[in-house]
Amino acid sequence: MSINWFTWLARPKRGNGGGAPTEKNLASDALDLRYPSSSQNDRDRASAVFSGAVVIYRALPAMLELVECIRDITRQALKVTDPCLAESLLESPDFRHRASSARQAVRENDDVASLYRAVLREAGVDVSAAFFDHFKLRLQPSNDVSRTRYMRDLPVHRDTWGSNVHAQINWWAPIWPVANDRTIGMFPALWDVPVLNTSAGWSYPEFIRQLKADKNTAYPMLPYCIDSLSPSDAVPVVIEPGDIMAFSGAHLHCSIPNQSGILRISTETRTVSLHDLINSRSAKNVDCNAPASQFDWFHHIETGESLAHHLQATEHKVPNVAGSDS
Ligand SMILES: [Fe+2]
Repeated sequence: MSINWFTWLARPKRGNGGGAPTEKNLASDALDLRYPSSSQNDRDRASAVFSGAVVIYRALPAMLELVECIRDITRQALKVTDPCLAESLLESPDFRHRASSARQAVRENDDVASLYRAVLREAGVDVSAAFFDHFKLRLQPSNDVSRTRYMRDLPVHRDTWGSNVHAQINWWAPIWPVANDRTIGMFPALWDVPVLNTSAGWSYPEFIRQLKADKNTAYPMLPYCIDSLSPSDAVPVVIEPGDIMAFSGAHLHCSIPNQSGILRISTETRTVSLHDLINSRSAKNVDCNAPASQFDWFHHIETGESLAHHLQATEHKVPNVAGSDS
């Protein structure tokens, strides 16, 4: 039986009034952080995250194991004993090359995949109904010369602007300790407030086409906010290695710009639960104008079946999609 007991910080409710975000309304809302005291079923998690809460599962045994596993892989790939100092210990080309190897190693490691599934189970996820994208290692450098397309400060965005899957849940966890100046940042005041963004014109197939033609293409990796918002206005979220947080793919977030001199090392994945799709549980679409939904980004966590294929085979209709299905 799942238990829905939370400790939480009060979050004053605001209406979806629209209009340009201002400094005043950015500061007017607290982040709705919830700490389930035990595993939580998919319905209760959906109820929390699709209303804008950030759910933090603390010190999960499998997450602590996953942290150790990813630390080992990262040390081996970077060939340094303290990967958080790798930018200072290595020449930049070496750092970028070894960091890329570390990212690939984590993505392809069977122990990582197995432990990730255990983490999700401990959080209460029904993995038999869960589809995911990848198990990723995220490295956020502190120095300009260390940055690449995949290792940099991410701009202000909602993941749903790219996926157009409003039942998407993001999972994020630090591998080494993070701090207010090197972590993920959220914009709780803008959870249900439309902001200007590039979702209408962004195309994943076009991104892939341009990337294949030119690996240095300027085509953006994801749609982003073009409203007057700065990542430095985001509310930093600091959790401990061994904790993992879940939040809606529709939550406005970014990387807190890292100028700390220390490499931020975290891991993340994204899931979609069939239970949520079948029961029409998702975040409200406030400003996503993506022309297509990327269900093919997600694969069953145990069988590997594509979510797009599964929905097609079961003729399941998905609500709350801005553009046409694909
Ligand atoms: Fe994101």
